[in-house]
This record gives sequence, C-alpha cells and structure tokens, in this order.
Amino acid sequence: MKNIVLIGFMGTGKSSVGKILARKLGLKFVDVDEVIEKTTGMKISEIFAKFGEPRFRDIETEVIKLISQNNRQVIATGGGAILREENFKKLKDKGIIVWLKASENVILERVKNCKDRPLLQVENPKQKIKELLTKRIPFYEKADFSINTEELTPEEVAEKIIQEYERLKNGKT
Ligand code: S3P
Repeated sequence: MKNIVLIGFMGTGKSSVGKILARKLGLKFVDVDEVIEKTTGMKISEIFAKFGEPRFRDIETEVIKLISQNNRQVIATGGGAILREENFKKLKDKGIIVWLKASENVILERVKNCKDRPLLQVENPKQKIKELLTKRIPFYEKADFSINTEELTPEEVAEKIIQEYERLKNGKT
C-alpha cells in the first residue's frame, strides 16, 4: 500500500487525523515535525528562533527525503512542507496526497491560543493566515483529493479519506 500524505494549512487537523487514519488502516504514523524535533533535539519554535525559517526548511527537506523512502505510512506534513517542489515530488512518488482544508476563520479559531507556531506569532495572525493561504492554495491544489474538515471530527475526516482512497484505487471519479 502506498503512503497517505496529509497536507494543508496549520490547524487543519493533519496530526490528529493522521493518527486515527494510521490506526484504522494498520499503517505507521509519521509526523514530519515530530521527526524534526526528535532528530534535532529542538522544538520547531526554537529552530525558527535560533536558525531562522530557511534553515528549518532545509531540515524539513532532509527529513522528508528520508521518510519518503518507506511505504505503508500515514505522513502528516507541516503546513509549508510542500511548497518546495522537491518535497512534493518525493512525497508524491510513493504516496497519495490528501489536502485537509479549512477556511481562514476556522483556522484562526483553531490556532489562536497556540504558541508553538512561529509563523503565527505576529500582531495580526488573521492577516498572516490570509496571506499565507493565498500563496499556498495553488500548491495544496496539487493534491490527489481534498477534504473540507470544517464540520467534521477527526474521526469523520479519517473515514472520508478511506472512502476517497478506495474510490481512487478502484479508478472511479
Ligand atoms: C508551518 C507549519 C507547522 C510547522 C512550522 C511551519 C508552516 O506545522 O511545520 O511551524 O509553514 O505552515 P503544522 O502545519 O503541523 O502546524
């Protein structure tokens, strides 16, 4: 079985859905940000603060290169991971790419009390979300399919992914 790769903006539930999905399908769950934190021994926010975003992106690319060599995994990516063409290609090579979607207001509600997302530690997070989303949507649109997560629990999102995955596998549109 191919990997299932979850992409999408911060706060769209990639990690929580990924865990459930992996359990339901008997696959390994791999969270790219967690692997980055484990291998560097630093929190994502520390990496940003000490070395800056470009260094974080290089580490992210290295980790994706390693992870995407394996099969039978559900991979949760960080929200900016697939902006690098190289990362997208590696993930796509062995995986089905699923975009978890939510509107900017829902994203803001979900992330507003969270301090460990360095890109959103700004005066106007709503504006920042809007800017980043506008830039990123064309990249997220390259996914094999998308799920709107706004009205669904992580469990329901996982179920929908399984349904879509089966449909795709059986060649139905
Ligand atoms: C980022 C999203 C984060 C993490 C880092 C950068 C982004 O992951 O990789 O803070 O660029 O959107 P989540 O999407 O899991 O929050």
